[in-house]
Amino acid sequence: MVTLLDGKELAAKIKLEIAKEVASMINGGARAPHLAAVLVGEDPASQTYVASKEKNSHAVGMLSSIYRYPDTICEPELLEVVDFLNNDDEIDGFIVQLPLPRHIDEQKVIERILPVKDIDGFHPVNLGRMMLGLPALLPATPMGIMTMLERYDIDTAGKNCVVLGRSHIVGTPISILLSRKATPGNCTVTLCHSFTKDIPKHTREADILIIAMGRQHFVTGDMVKKDAVVIDVGMHRIPDESKKSGFRLTGDVDFDKVSKKCSYITPVPGGVGPMTIVSLLQNTLKAAKQYPQTP
Ligand code: GUN
Repeated sequence: MVTLLDGKELAAKIKLEIAKEVASMINGGARAPHLAAVLVGEDPASQTYVASKEKNSHAVGMLSSIYRYPDTICEPELLEVVDFLNNDDEIDGFIVQLPLPRHIDEQKVIERILPVKDIDGFHPVNLGRMMLGLPALLPATPMGIMTMLERYDIDTAGKNCVVLGRSHIVGTPISILLSRKATPGNCTVTLCHSFTKDIPKHTREADILIIAMGRQHFVTGDMVKKDAVVIDVGMHRIPDESKKSGFRLTGDVDFDKVSKKCSYITPVPGGVGPMTIVSLLQNTLKAAKQYPQTP
């Protein structure tokens, strides 16, 4: 029998825990943790993500601000915005929504963010600390996956974990987190990418399979070992006139076929997505606690 890794339900539970902590901080005289987001341009997916971050921050009693700029903003102007947020004591942390317009160097912007305010966990200092197992703000999606494995009590020690995709945001950090000496962790990790020969040969050996390829329904039933744990990070908008939004969401996994073989699987939507948002809230709380607050 397959168990659904219900990110929506788990995220709702963790948000209640966060809300309690926020309330006790406020009762103790601190101001509410404050998460800001910088949104450049009009990309519909980015607007949806940022709106969702705002809605969820408010749901747990946090403050939220969105700084919107046209896609004509130049790099020095955007770096000034980052400096402003770095120096604003009323803001505990912020994210710069990606992708940025092509004329802006994303890495330069990320490296300008103060590591203690880097809620996305993309700064090299946070990624370096993560690699060493030191306290850090972790990248939100990998952190959400780790929380999910932990809360569902999935045993990872000594398991073969195969990760498809080596992005800086998901594939590379989750491969490091799962290979660390920790719980969850202690996996033997294989990281597959565009140069990997015979990907199905690797995926069929996976006890835990994490897919962050950005290729719709790439993983088919024959690629998965019986009773594997399957985590689908893919998110694709498929035009669908029967939906109010005009689209439905689907992942990198052929859910109908794969779910018949595996022991646990994340749905899309409602799997990894809500866990990513909850990780941002957890990071905001962590950043806020780093600063002794005065009312
Ligand atoms: N664009 C897609 N995913 C992300 C994310 O996790 N953080 C930011 N800042 N932008 C993104």
